[in-house]
Amino acid sequence: MARKKLIAGNWKMNKTAVEAEVLAKELVAAVGKITERDIMIAPTFTSLAAVSAVIKGTSIKLGAQNMSSEDSGAFTGEISADMLIGAGVSHVILGHSERRSIFKEDDTFINKKVKKALAKNLVPVLCVGETLAEREAGKADSIVGDQVVKGYAGIPEADAKRVVVAYEPVWAIGTGKTATPADADAMHKHIRDVLAKTYSSTFAEAAIILYGGSMNDKNADELLNMPNIDGGLIGGAALKAESFARIINYTKK
Ligand code: PGA
Repeated sequence: MARKKLIAGNWKMNKTAVEAEVLAKELVAAVGKITERDIMIAPTFTSLAAVSAVIKGTSIKLGAQNMSSEDSGAFTGEISADMLIGAGVSHVILGHSERRSIFKEDDTFINKKVKKALAKNLVPVLCVGETLAEREAGKADSIVGDQVVKGYAGIPEADAKRVVVAYEPVWAIGTGKTATPADADAMHKHIRDVLAKTYSSTFAEAAIILYGGSMNDKNADELLNMPNIDGGLIGGAALKAESFARIINYTKK
């Protein structure tokens, strides 16, 4: 079964609204008409409106990097699903390893956000991944499997179909160290097996599973041609139109 590739840019805490608008315009010129692959960019909250205006009517979709699990009220500093939707957002990255490690978000909290995103018709991009210590201890499969099970907990199959998973080994993020295509593919296969057990094999076959962690214009071809890798969640290399466009235009082998 052919799964459509999703190439997603996570801009993290980079670029002012003015700078984000410039990058978005460059991307529209370079890849704004591509429909063969899904494209998503996730700027910071303060750039969402400006970027949304630039990408309107193109094939590029807008994502946010985080979202509150609550609807509204006394949650200083938080942003709700409705606010994101109002700014033109369709996708939301949840449980990124930087949120897990720096801001202490746990699986239960992330699961609540995934459920909220689904209830609001946003596409949650659920991030999972092991640390170097966990990999070296031979625990990568069980850690990632556990994050997947807990991330999808209590979500019926019909809704869960809209979740995108991003496997991002923590040791590969922003470090220039990439998982080998074979290792990444093996983990994606493992995630698919966990989803098959949780839901069904048909469900697992259709699930979109992205790889993230130092993906760039040089290594994208190899990674994106692996059978279980359905796209990328790209940080550093998404901050330049040229490298991000090259990843989107990866060579199919
Ligand atoms: P990186 O970040 O591509 O800079 O390693 C990926 C991510 O954290 O989503």
